[in-house]
Amino acid sequence: MKDRFYIENAAEFDGEIVEIKGWLYNRRGSGKILFLMVRDGTGIIQCIVEKKEFDEETFENLKNLNYESSLTVKGKLRADVRAPGGFELNAEEIKIVHVSEPYPITPKEHGTGFLMDHRHLWLRSSKQHAIIRIRNTVIKAWRDFFEEEGFTMVDAPIFTGTSVEGTTTLFETEYFGQKAYLSQSGQLHMEAAAMAFGKVYCFGPTFRAEKSKTRRHVTEFWMLEPEVAYYELDDAIALAERMIMFSIHRVLEKNKKELEVLERDTKILENIKIPFPRMSYTEGVEYLNSHDFPFEWGSGDFGGDEETILGQIHEQPLVIHRYPSKARAFYMKPDPENPEVVLNFDILAPEGYGEIVGGSQRVDDLKTLLDKLEEHKLPREPLEWYIDLRKYGSVPHAGYGVGLSRFLTWICKRSHIREALPFPRLMHRLHP
Ligand code: 4AD
Ligand code: MG
Repeated sequence: MKDRFYIENAAEFDGEIVEIKGWLYNRRGSGKILFLMVRDGTGIIQCIVEKKEFDEETFENLKNLNYESSLTVKGKLRADVRAPGGFELNAEEIKIVHVSEPYPITPKEHGTGFLMDHRHLWLRSSKQHAIIRIRNTVIKAWRDFFEEEGFTMVDAPIFTGTSVEGTTTLFETEYFGQKAYLSQSGQLHMEAAAMAFGKVYCFGPTFRAEKSKTRRHVTEFWMLEPEVAYYELDDAIALAERMIMFSIHRVLEKNKKELEVLERDTKILENIKIPFPRMSYTEGVEYLNSHDFPFEWGSGDFGGDEETILGQIHEQPLVIHRYPSKARAFYMKPDPENPEVVLNFDILAPEGYGEIVGGSQRVDDLKTLLDKLEEHKLPREPLEWYIDLRKYGSVPHAGYGVGLSRFLTWICKRSHIREALPFPRLMHRLHP
């Protein structure tokens, strides 16, 4: 049972009297007839208001009502192929709930700064609305996927005592006389959980004090991180591939309308298939160097520009594996066949969107882990619990992290990550 009428369920109410509770989105007409576009959060519907059905004053008020005023409209719903959205409502009774002040966002072009300052209102606009609805689909798809794969969800803490992904992007806070940090990743705790439950994931907010102002970085983002005992590198890659396929199919199935609103060409999404093409870091460097983009092996991670070039080779996500040990985190397992590189991978989105997934097989033997901590100049004491995992029934294990907003920026083909989450936190943005 649905609790009441919502526009998205219009098909179930054809020919019935319904009441829309919503906001005025747009209006056409003037003399004898008004076409009010009313939105209710789930969709937009055209309401036909005939002058002869209403008293003079109500009709005048509706003619001049500011956009985003709230109102309820009761009337007969009917299917009409010519109507935007396929349905129309013949208004019989209208109540104005609140007369909006002149609405600051108008159909004319606004600068991004203005729109971000008005993010609390901008969310009502059709494209922004569509992105957040797709986000909702992806969250559900990811949960369903891991449920179907037999994973247990285990929460990771947000206050942590150590860095996971390097100290330069740590947010520090005072914690009863000692230092605490906002979690950069739940991975280390998931490694502990994987040893208890086998297949686990966490999905929660993570934080990076990114001083860079790029179109791919926010300071707070939701990350999903699976971790599996007895998984090796290739198992983790295959899991990520299945997850991506699953969630793309779900979006294509559930969000046709939203993708249309975004004018997203879905061909590339429809054509994605697994396995994704693979390339080692070394091959990546060779590719760059043979395409007029000099890059020195081992000089570090690929940056945004390199990722953009490599991600455009195929119209498929690209798996890049085995990065130089020196450029990567302490927990990644060195490749036994070449310890200069680690058993890790990134997945780059096609269309130049860069990294969406980062993962690895983890160091599973005590001595290597202790050596790595020393090499990375990380204090042992706060990680004693993590070291323990290599003392009590250590096994090969692997996992990855996928950033929800990174993934969505690509799926929705936005030019900047800030549109892919409701209230983005950026270096210079803490409001709204
Ligand atoms: O590559 P990252 O830093 O890897 C980790 O945190 C691992 N501990 C994950 C793991 O193996 N469990 O981050 C993983 C993903 C990236 O691929 C990207 O999608 C997203 O998190 N991400 C960001 N998204 C938005 N803004 C940022 N500043 C991000 N940093 C990482
Ligand atoms: Mg990464």
